[in-house]
Order: sequence, then C-alpha cells, then structure tokens
Amino acid sequence: MKLPNYVEARKRTKDKVEIEHYSNDIKDLGIGKTYHIKTYGCQMNEHDSENIKAMLEELGFTYNDDYQTSDLVLLNTCSIRENAHNKAFGMLGRLKHLKEENHNLIVGLCGCMAQEEGVINEILTKYKWINFVFGTHNLYRLPYILKEALDKNEREIEVFSREGNIVEGIPVKRDSKYKAYVNIIYGCDKFCTYCIVPFTRGKQRSRLKEDIVREVEELVKDGYKEVTLLGQNVNAYGKDLSLGYGMEELLEEVSKTGIPRIRFVTSHPWDFTDGMIDVIAKYKNIMPAIHLPVQSGSSRILKLMGRRYTKEEYLTLFHKIKERIPNASISTDIIVGFPSETEEDFKETLDLVNECKFDNAFTFIYSPRENTAAARLKDEVTLAEKEERLHELNDLVNIYFKENNDKLVGTTVPVLVEGVSEKKGILFGYTDTNKLINFEGDSSVIGKIIDVKVTSAKTWSLDGEIDER
Ligand code: SAH
Ligand code: SF4
Ligand code: F3S
Repeated sequence: MKLPNYVEARKRTKDKVEIEHYSNDIKDLGIGKTYHIKTYGCQMNEHDSENIKAMLEELGFTYNDDYQTSDLVLLNTCSIRENAHNKAFGMLGRLKHLKEENHNLIVGLCGCMAQEEGVINEILTKYKWINFVFGTHNLYRLPYILKEALDKNEREIEVFSREGNIVEGIPVKRDSKYKAYVNIIYGCDKFCTYCIVPFTRGKQRSRLKEDIVREVEELVKDGYKEVTLLGQNVNAYGKDLSLGYGMEELLEEVSKTGIPRIRFVTSHPWDFTDGMIDVIAKYKNIMPAIHLPVQSGSSRILKLMGRRYTKEEYLTLFHKIKERIPNASISTDIIVGFPSETEEDFKETLDLVNECKFDNAFTFIYSPRENTAAARLKDEVTLAEKEERLHELNDLVNIYFKENNDKLVGTTVPVLVEGVSEKKGILFGYTDTNKLINFEGDSSVIGKIIDVKVTSAKTWSLDGEIDER
C-alpha cells in the first residue's frame, strides 16, 4: 500500500525528469471480462481514460457501455470542486449496491481524488470494498496494480505523491477518429491559492518536442483532422526543460506537420508571450480560439488568488490578442464568491465582462479545497449571495455569447463535421472559432472540414447550411 501525502505533493525539486518507456508483460488478465469507465473532470482526465481503456484492452478486457453489467468498473475522478467529489461518491454508493449483489464485481478508483489524503482516508475506513486505487502519477502501472489486487484478492492502493518521470508510449484508444488530445505538459507550478491541481498533478514537466511532433505526425497519417495540445498551463511549455524552446517553437513545429487544425488549452495569461500571438496569427492551421481564464475582474481578488496579473494587465493582453488576431474568439473561466469578495469586487468582474464580451465563459462558485491556501482564508460571503452573483454573471455572459454568434450570421465558416447530433438528428460540428453548429447534410461529410453558411444564431450554438460554392 502506498498512500498520498500532501507535504510531499507540495514539494517542487530541481530533480531532473527522465523519460521512461511504457512496457507491460502482463497479458490475459481480462480475457472474457468486460469493463466500464466513468470519467469526471477536464480534458486531461478524458485523455487519461483513453490511455486506461487501451491498457485494459491490452489485458483482454472488452468495453461495455453499461456499468451495471460490467465485470470491472473504474471511476476516473476529479477534485476541482466539491460537486465533482459528490458525483464520484454518489456513483460509489450505486456501485456498493451492485457489489452486494455481485461479489465478483471489480471496482477501481483513480484520477485526482485518489491523490487527496482526505479521500484516501475515507476509502480506508468507509469504502473497504473497493478493489484497487491508483493516482495520476502511476497510471502506467495499472496492469500491475490490477494483477496484485486480483491475485491476492485484497484491496490494492498505490498512490505516489511525487510525480516522478514522464512515461512515453502508453497505449491509447482514442474516442474520436478525427480529433485527438495530445499532452504537452504535465502538472502545474502556479499554485493559485484556490486550486488543488498542483497537489493532484505534481510538478510542471514538459514532454520533449520530438515526442509531441512524432505523435502528431502519426495522427496526420491516421487521417486525424484536429489536435488539442493539453496542459494545465500550456504557455509554460518548455520552461522546465532549458532546451531553449517554448510554446512558440512548439506551435510552429506542430503547425508544420500539416495537421489541419491545432487547438491548445489552457493558457495562463502570465506566460502568454507576444511571440505566441504572432505564431497563432501567422499559421492558418492554428485555430483562432483562445481560452484565457481571468477568474476575477478585481485586482485585489486576483492578488488573493495568486494569479500574478492585475485586471489592467489582463485587459492589455486581451486587446493585444484581439488586435493581432481580429477574428479570434476568446473564452474564459470566472470564479464568484472567492473569500472576502465584496459587491464592488464582483461589479468589477461584471465591468470586465462588459469590456471583453467573451465568446464563451465557464463560471463557478468558489469551492474551498482541502489543503489549499485559500481554504484557510475567512469566508464571509454567504452561499445565497454567491448564488445570486453567479446568476447575475451568467445572465450577462449569455448576452455576449448570443451577440458574438449573431455577428456570424450570413458568413461562411469552416466546420469540422463530427457526426449526427443525437438530439436533433442532423449534422453537427465545430467552427474554427470553436462554436457548435448544426446543419442538414449527407453523412458522407462526417470527418471532413467543409464550408457552412451560418443562417441563425442561438446563445450556445449556430444553425447553418452547407455552402456548396
Ligand atoms: N489550469 C487552468 C484551470 C484548470 S481548472 C487555468 O489556470 O486556467 C478549471 C477552472 O476551474 C479554473 O480556471 C477555475 O475557474 C475553476 N476552479 C479551479 N479551482 C476552483 C475552486 N476551488 N472553486 C471554484 N472553481 C475553481
Ligand atoms: Fe490551478 Fe492555477 Fe495551475 Fe490553473 S494555473 S491548474 S488554476 S494552480
Ligand atoms: Fe479535475 Fe484533476 Fe482535471 S482536479 S479538472 S481532473 S486536473
């Protein structure tokens, strides 16, 4: 048993990060068995699940869409806010009932929650029936951890608090045939005071440029149309390597692979250089869609959040991007109800939204996280006030989503067609600026980038028709 430890998780050492290669000599463990995996949280977790699926299938497991009839159920969890926790614990409740009926059911938990001391203590005392647990740093050890749990018929918990090396070559079973996630940097060193990620994902570690480019080249060969470069803070790419290259150079090299579309998330305003803006503006296959979380419009709150920029600095960067990439869509994340946030602070957030008119915004009520600096701040804002602020903020951001979408009506936009929408029964896809668009058409265009004329706009989507010209 290896348990997480926050003192270790907080440490940032100068230890050199080595590159290891995945290997697995365990086979046949899952032959004749099915698995189901539930994924919570961000794209990073979704991509980890794509690795987990491939590893399980290498062991002989086959995928089952229905967790209730699966032999193995794995929860890949998220810690970012309390409600992510609640969802995972709710699911564990349902799995407990299933396990009472079927003692052979194998239940596992992994992801960010596994890195939390508090969660593991709860599992140790209240969830003794869970078969295995592993963390974000030892995903690649899944075959061994599972074998240990099954051979000994005992619960196996293996969570490393320190990040260790980068492991290349983990197999992957991608959810889409057209769009792919590619990790470029793991971990985060920013330690924003509200955020648990630097504890659950460890020190910032960049993959080598050659490894990333090789992965994208293979995707091009396999007919992929879009790649999303992933990291908690992609703009910090390369800073830990001292090899003399960063995000600018990486974007350029990925662009040269010829992949039709490149996206990247998430950009922290702090590391966004002028050079990066130039590269995005220069290369047509780097999509003009930038996710630039602001979190708050009050410089006082930003300071308490440890975000390292003021409202003015954010606005300067925002306008610079808009000036040099005129068609860029910019989206953001905003937290309301951070400890001590006053009505004036909140009003500054509304003012900033009125100035930036974001294309999209993810808005959250502040949720205190175990062991973070902000969790120790006095929080006198009531939940009712926070809810009211969220409501007011959502009403405002929605106005601008619609306004931005309205501007596209009558224009023709490039769309990567992803499939037939379950709800509407017609085709859907995403524009270069990352807007969802629905339109009639033949299924032969699925997986292609085509021109679509926008005919009308809603708050969260567009309607269009294929432009045959
Ligand atoms: N690395 C990204 C953010 C990843 S988390 C970045 O820095 O931009 C995604 C979003 O969740 C954050 O941008 C923030 O708005 C929100 N978030 C993170 N911790 C939170 C907390 N404790 N309470 C509420 N929202 C939080
Ligand atoms: Fe969390 Fe801040 Fe790192 Fe984003 S940059 S993952 S918000 S600590
Ligand atoms: Fe959640 Fe971990 Fe992502 S906390 S948001 S799954 S990095």
